[in-house]
Amino acid sequence: MASQVINSRLLLLTIPILACVFLCSCYARATDKNGARIRGMFVFGSSLVDNGNNNFLKNSMAKADFLPYGIDFPYGPSGRFTNGKNVIDLLCDQLKLPLVPAFTDPSTKGTKIIHGVNYASGASGILDDTGLLAGNVISLNQQVRNFEEVTLPVLEAEMGFQRRELLPKYLFVVGTGGNDYSFNYFLRQSNANVSLEAFTANLTRKLSGQLQKLYSLGGRKFALMAVNPIGCSPMVMANRRTRNGCIEGLNKAAHLFNAHLKSLVDVSKEQMPGSNVIFVNSYKMIRDIIKNPVSRGFKDTNSACCEVMSLNEGGNGILCKKEGQACEDRNIHVFFDGLHPTEAVNIQIATKAYNSNLTSEVYPINVKQLSML
Ligand SMILES: *[C@@H]1O[C@H](CO)[C@@H](O)[C@H](O)[C@H]1NC(C)=O
Ligand SMILES: *[C@@H]1O[C@H](CO)[C@@H](O)[C@H](O)[C@H]1NC(C)=O
Ligand SMILES: *[C@@H]1O[C@H](CO)[C@@H](O)[C@H](O)[C@H]1NC(C)=O
Repeated sequence: MASQVINSRLLLLTIPILACVFLCSCYARATDKNGARIRGMFVFGSSLVDNGNNNFLKNSMAKADFLPYGIDFPYGPSGRFTNGKNVIDLLCDQLKLPLVPAFTDPSTKGTKIIHGVNYASGASGILDDTGLLAGNVISLNQQVRNFEEVTLPVLEAEMGFQRRELLPKYLFVVGTGGNDYSFNYFLRQSNANVSLEAFTANLTRKLSGQLQKLYSLGGRKFALMAVNPIGCSPMVMANRRTRNGCIEGLNKAAHLFNAHLKSLVDVSKEQMPGSNVIFVNSYKMIRDIIKNPVSRGFKDTNSACCEVMSLNEGGNGILCKKEGQACEDRNIHVFFDGLHPTEAVNIQIATKAYNSNLTSEVYPINVKQLSML
């Protein structure tokens, strides 16, 4: 008798569970068929991919929540460090995903996170002490902790699936490293005796550790963004008299870092079985535009489009002056401020990242191919 009661109770419990598993998995399959196979994006990195996280930080100087930033963005200034959309927004467009919300925005909660979250923070780097110059920023370590400790439990609850089932359907984008050179390595006296090679090996070892952390949590699709040709930015060109050409020391550092990133892609095949990692060479894409601007629709490759706050004015030579002027023809400028590309350049990067067939631009496959795996 007793066992019959238990059995029927078990049955009563099991039926709804089975029904749910069946219906939920049908639902998941149906949504996959209808649209993108990538369900969302988790984004980590610096200002090139930050979409407003620093807006909500106290004592952060690296903010872009004022005009002329966002002058061409549908919702105006948002904290994005460019005139319009950044590379992440444009990749979302390509993948037919809604724009990814910023982690620190208090309204980013509940169902708002189901298509991913952006953790990136302007002025941050791979090393925890990169960005201290700019006050409060969120380091890569902290960004990954925010994903693991805050978002992941909510995502599992909202979707009703475990992380191992969910995360392979999301794209993890990492765009960081430039600030570790511009605002750390090249500024620190104590680095005088540390070789660029040793510093770069350290950086990529730490980055690799973070990727493995994301992999251990269930991430399977990764896109690594190159460090851009920082030696060609108006910020550094303003201090030199090289009207043509770029500061090779900084570019050499970026180039070295990118070579390490690319080999990380190869190494990941063994270190992270079942994962797919791609390298998006935005360095080459921007370098190509600077070398041959006219054929790609650009005219100005070395001056900022907006009025930049110089060192003399209490600025840093990077950010636009609050409510300052912006150039009229933003589509022919490579740089919007002292460091960050215009939306026109971001469009080229995102388009190539999505569907270029050149392994010199996306290696070993493009985002479109990655999304279909
Ligand atoms: C760098 O190395 C030289 C010689 O090995 C030493 O004299 C100097 O103090 C070192 N500089 C720093 C900043 O560590
Ligand atoms: C590499 O990182 C370790 C620990 O994080 C640090 O102690 C060491 O000085 C770093 N080496 C270089 C060359 O930056
Ligand atoms: C890359 O190759 C695919 C398949 O051959 C093609 O459909 C696509 O248009 C190509 N992409 C570009 C940018 O040429």
